Amino acid sequence: LEPVDFVVVANRLPVDRKSDADGNSVWRTSPGGLVTALEPVMQEHHGAWVGWHGATDEPLDPFEYSGYQLVPVPLSAQEVEEYYEGFSNGTLWPLYHDVVAKPEYHREWWDSYVEVNQRFAEAAAAVAAHGATVWVQDYQLQLVPQMLRALREDLRIGFFLHIPFPPVELFQQLPWRRQIIEGLLGADLIGFQTAGGAQNFTRIARQRLRLDTHRESITLPSGRTCRAAAYPISIDARGFETLAQSQPIQQRARELRHELGDPEVIFLGVDRLDYTKGIYHRLRAYGELVAEGVVDPAKCAFLQVATPSRERVDEYKRLRDEIDMLVGRINGDFGGIGRPPITYMHMSFPREEMAAMYTAADVCVVTPLRDGMNLVCKEYIACRSNNDGALILSEFAGAAGELRQAYMINPYDVNGMKQGMVLAMNDTVQNKRRRMRALRRQVFTHDIDTWADSFLKDLANVPSNE
Ligand code: G6P
Repeated sequence: LEPVDFVVVANRLPVDRKSDADGNSVWRTSPGGLVTALEPVMQEHHGAWVGWHGATDEPLDPFEYSGYQLVPVPLSAQEVEEYYEGFSNGTLWPLYHDVVAKPEYHREWWDSYVEVNQRFAEAAAAVAAHGATVWVQDYQLQLVPQMLRALREDLRIGFFLHIPFPPVELFQQLPWRRQIIEGLLGADLIGFQTAGGAQNFTRIARQRLRLDTHRESITLPSGRTCRAAAYPISIDARGFETLAQSQPIQQRARELRHELGDPEVIFLGVDRLDYTKGIYHRLRAYGELVAEGVVDPAKCAFLQVATPSRERVDEYKRLRDEIDMLVGRINGDFGGIGRPPITYMHMSFPREEMAAMYTAADVCVVTPLRDGMNLVCKEYIACRSNNDGALILSEFAGAAGELRQAYMINPYDVNGMKQGMVLAMNDTVQNKRRRMRALRRQVFTHDIDTWADSFLKDLANVPSNE
């Protein structure tokens, strides 16, 4: 592989190596917002994407994919347990999401995290041309900026955190808090989803590392400066809209409506099956509305897609059981033949089918307890070219800062969430249009290109230490 000028480093590649029913290896699009957002960026900037391919102990050579290079980084089964499921998703994920689940601290997990971060740094150093820009992504790789700088002083290093950065009061639980901060400070520019996240980080650098900070700049002992600022991530809004407006997707949306029994109102939830997403809270609220007769299941349908995620982590297994039970109970108590109040699907769908669901849905329900940004709400908005439809959005999603015209709810407040659902369903056409127009203006003027361009421009402008 020829060295390239632009390198993205993320835990996952955009495609995932999975076994199909017959045990053959097949490639699938990886789940989650990070991949959704970065794929169009790579298609525009080319270069190489360094990441794990989702299988264990299966080394793979770099290969070309959709106009750029994929550079697979191998993980052993033990590293998947300790670095990925353990430290990344059993420690950092809950800690950074306001401890909505309890983070676990294990020294072996940390050791594995350090080792795997070093491997990613070496893989990036090997593919980056002299003076290249390397953009490191997300909580799984927070040590990579510092490690990469130690290997290659000539590089321009950016880091973007796709999830929230927690307040000092929570972050300081982490036994390895100093190492994480120092790891991130290896970057020239650190991007966060919200100004609050950037401020939390700067405050910690000032208080714990005693560094000089001025607004968004942090001065390191070496004299180098690192910037920490907010860059709210987005989607390829035009691409999504074009797809949704295409004849086959419009047709599929009509079919979906019919398959759901031609209800008057379709509610839609789309999430990875994750305890941060508030799926349980939202279905419980909806179940109460059905039980009270406020929502008539003969006239309304709730479609919930929950993409399987991190299935070997205990908290995720528990959540799946809880949701299975809740959906089973609501459908058992209130369903008619061929008419369950909730259509629940624990599987993932291609982009085309998602666009058809967004097109068919009258109300999109996005109720995370905490979320870095949330791109599902932006995808829904992008698909509503008739300015109809309604978005219910949690105050605890990063997107709430931008999408002020959504029907805002607090997912912990069951009654408030029920009121939000009833309002979104029954509001006047004019009100819904007014809100949707404003939402669309925001998403279309702040799309994925705006995000990548503003980050990369600021990264190029950070004074170089050469
Ligand atoms: C979130 C994270 C990503 C992650 C994705 C899917 O969007 O910010 O880094 O890739 O979830 O999770 P997974 O563990 O399957 O990669």
